[in-house]
Amino acid sequence: MKNFFLGVVVTLLALAAGGYFYATQGYVDIAADAAPSSMERHLAMSAMDAATERRAPEQKNPVAATDENLVAGAKLYLDHCAGCHGLPSNPESKFSRSFNPPTPGFFKRAPDMPDNQNFYITKHGIRWTGMPAWGPTLTDEQMWTIVTFMSKIEKLPPAARAVLEPPAPAAPPAR
Ligand code: HEC
Repeated sequence: MKNFFLGVVVTLLALAAGGYFYATQGYVDIAADAAPSSMERHLAMSAMDAATERRAPEQKNPVAATDENLVAGAKLYLDHCAGCHGLPSNPESKFSRSFNPPTPGFFKRAPDMPDNQNFYITKHGIRWTGMPAWGPTLTDEQMWTIVTFMSKIEKLPPAARAVLEPPAPAAPPAR
């Protein structure tokens, strides 16, 4: 029995040493244009979903989805998020594919998590991805305003849509 436990301990140590060697000697391909293995993808996505569910405090969104707030949210989104997460006319920003994991285009697939989780991700970001933590830059109220905007991204009132896509300028008068 003693030898069995010794065997288990030695095997675990060898695995840990192998993993450490693999990571520290340059065998992990960290290039953004290299496809991750299906195991890495599965582990990373599960870790992100589970961490968000466990850590995002149960909070009610204090910003109501009035036209005025959705317009304010659209402005904030345009200034801070659209460059990566896209616009109705350009749902795949140039970063959609160059980041790994790729940036979700919110006008192709609306963020479907509850508001408190979208707020948590917006405030804290997602490590090892291109998603920044906005806590140091935006106030909580601004972030809730963007979260409200994201929750209605598929049914925005015309005034909020106009912020994202200003109507084309009228043709110059004919001379
Ligand atoms: C520099 C590029 C970049 C900017 C700017 C950016 N994001 Fe992201 N965001 C990402 C990337 C990349 C991911 C995907 C991370 C992943 O798959 O784990 C992401 C993921 C998210 C998610 C999770 C989406 C989901 O359904 O999985 C939310 C919510 C989000 N971003 C909100 C925002 C908000 C709000 C802003 C603006 C305040 C913003 N992001 C600005 C790159 C960016």
